[in-house]
Amino acid sequence: MEDVEHIEKEMKLIDANGVRLDGRKYNELRPIRIEAGVLKRADGSAYIEWGGNKVLAAVYGPREAHPRHIQDPARALVQCRYNMAPFSVSDRKRPGPDRRSVEISKVISEAFSSVVFKEQFPRTSVDIFIEVLQADAGTRCAGLTAASVALADAGVPMRDLVAACASGKIGGVVCLDLNKEEDNFGDADCPMAVVHGTGEVVLLQMDGHLTYDEFQKAMELSLGAADKLFELQRDALRRRYSVTLEEILREAPPAAPAPPPEEPREFEQMPEEPGTSPDSDKELPEDDFGPEGL
Ligand code: CDP
Repeated sequence: MEDVEHIEKEMKLIDANGVRLDGRKYNELRPIRIEAGVLKRADGSAYIEWGGNKVLAAVYGPREAHPRHIQDPARALVQCRYNMAPFSVSDRKRPGPDRRSVEISKVISEAFSSVVFKEQFPRTSVDIFIEVLQADAGTRCAGLTAASVALADAGVPMRDLVAACASGKIGGVVCLDLNKEEDNFGDADCPMAVVHGTGEVVLLQMDGHLTYDEFQKAMELSLGAADKLFELQRDALRRRYSVTLEEILREAPPAAPAPPPEEPREFEQMPEEPGTSPDSDKELPEDDFGPEGL
């Protein structure tokens, strides 16, 4: 224990110039990349890389809820399963659910429950799966941000996209988007999810202590980050659904033009027997005997 306290005291998470261990300033996000529609079998999916985090989100539904006794006759259920792969963290994680993953699954399903138009789909379930492939702190925020894109990709009707980002305190300074070292050795971490457009907060947790003013500052930073995340989410969906003319042609080459409709014929004209026509006594042109002649 003393060792950890010693490391915490020695470790300068943010220097006198306000530069953090990974070179970021207090208000900077880690690099983020989002891709929509990455899984063929899911109704909707997304992949996010957020600093050292790599997270996949898949959505199924709305589909009939099973077992039947969980069905709500008035609305859909929004269910989430957050899971960390055993290889996602430095110490192998024991496979299967634990207290932490059950808690994260619960808070994420509640966050989406308040934006999905559940009344439109009674007796059904919208199932969200979040798989953390590589973790570096902030995985619930990364998972939620990706799941929001996956829900939109699945065409689940909802009020707006939701984006999440944590802010916290390191070395007495309120900072945005803590990484693993900052999360482990920092003073506080406060993840927050925001509905774009309304600014409504649908997830808010806190690990550690912040004063009222520090909390206000953290909230301001997370709200600003949510706007940037929304742009990345929207761009990912645009990339997924904007198709060029060349792509359309490659998928389905144009069908051959249909032949023009035949003119309706009043009667079938039979070919005349040679010699039966009234003009048959007329001399036939030389050509009618073929190229060789008679
Ligand atoms: O990931 P998030 O910040 O949402 O949740 P957390 O409980 O604050 O976890 C912070 C970080 O601790 C995770 O992102 C992982 O990198 C790490 N962790 C770990 O190494 N082993 C675990 N069993 C759980 C978390």
